[in-house]
Amino acid sequence: MRIPESLAPLVEAGTIEEVLRPLMSGKEAAVFLVRSEGELRVAKVYKDAHHRSFRQRSQYSEGRTVRNSRQRRAMAKGSRYGKALLEQAWQNAEVDALYRLHHAGVRVPTPYEFTDDVLVMELITGLDGEPAPRLFDIVPTRTEALSIHKHLVRQVVRMLCAGMVHGDLSEYNILMAAEGPVIIDLPQATDAAHNRNSERILLRDVRHLGQYLGRFAPALRRTKYGPEMWHMYKEGTLHPDSELTGKFSRKGPRVDTNSVIEEIQAAAAEAAKTPVSGYRAKKERQLAEVQAAEEARAAQGVKRKGKGEGKGEGASEGGGGKQRRRRRRRRPRGGESR
Ligand SMILES: Nc1ncnc2c1ncn2[C@@H]1O[C@H](COP(=O)(O)OP(=O)(O)OP(=O)(O)O)[C@@H](O)[C@H]1O
Ligand SMILES: [Mg+2]
Repeated sequence: MRIPESLAPLVEAGTIEEVLRPLMSGKEAAVFLVRSEGELRVAKVYKDAHHRSFRQRSQYSEGRTVRNSRQRRAMAKGSRYGKALLEQAWQNAEVDALYRLHHAGVRVPTPYEFTDDVLVMELITGLDGEPAPRLFDIVPTRTEALSIHKHLVRQVVRMLCAGMVHGDLSEYNILMAAEGPVIIDLPQATDAAHNRNSERILLRDVRHLGQYLGRFAPALRRTKYGPEMWHMYKEGTLHPDSELTGKFSRKGPRVDTNSVIEEIQAAAAEAAKTPVSGYRAKKERQLAEVQAAEEARAAQGVKRKGKGEGKGEGASEGGGGKQRRRRRRRRPRGGESR
């Protein structure tokens, strides 16, 4: 095939011997099947930075350090130079993550070469020796879904133990290799310890795994592996081989019911101070009058005698019933504030 412009320097340098065919073109990159050092490999060509949102990326990039202060300022300002640096940092983050995870024993493609917006890495193949399908492309049985999920949860734990959270762990970024699932696409991988969003991102990743594979094995939808592993990570007790149960309940200090009631009463008193509409004020006045009259009558030991007695309440069986119905309707609104 005609050599894409972005791959030409690598072909000229001899790093890539042959470009065989495009594999996939995603949002972020175009992926080609190439021959390099005599092997079939994959070349991921990052797309033009202008097509992508830098703002959306910031939640993932937090905690990544930039030592050069001039570069840091340019990145913060969003100048052309700053954007080019951000793009470079984004691509580097994928390469760094691949090296780091590879060394931590997480099954990711082995990276071979990274230069000029191109990452050359191991080709992940499926049972037929062809480029592996994505998790999205297969229909697992219930048993297979359970086993894929178990395997992936272990990989996520291993990643977390290496201080990383994937950040986009979807059915599109998991390849079903002959030997098991392989996690790919890591430019947004975040630093678990230094990024304040990492807990939320990890919980989302793990919840998504449970929800997606839960389509084939519904019991997975109720599992709580994310909170469980994050809790252990925070406590410093998470290890690559830690046993997880998928169950988790937040064990906090016991709730002090009395102080909760006090809080509610204080909030209600506060709310009562806020101005009310004329209509509501009138209704509340009426209600207060009715209640005061009732209390006064109870105090005097007065019994209802039937029709015609008193004004407003207890005038008749029917009238009294109606009044009670009205009161019942009004009462719940009494404590509201608007
Ligand atoms: N190492 C690999 N081996 C085999 N196929 C790969 C490999 N890396 C990527 N692919 C294929 O290329 C596709 C796109 O790769 P990747 O997800 O890394 O790029 P992307 O553009 O960031 O994707 P997207 O934005 O769509 O998530 C993958 O879904 C997969 O089918
Ligand atoms: Mg992808």
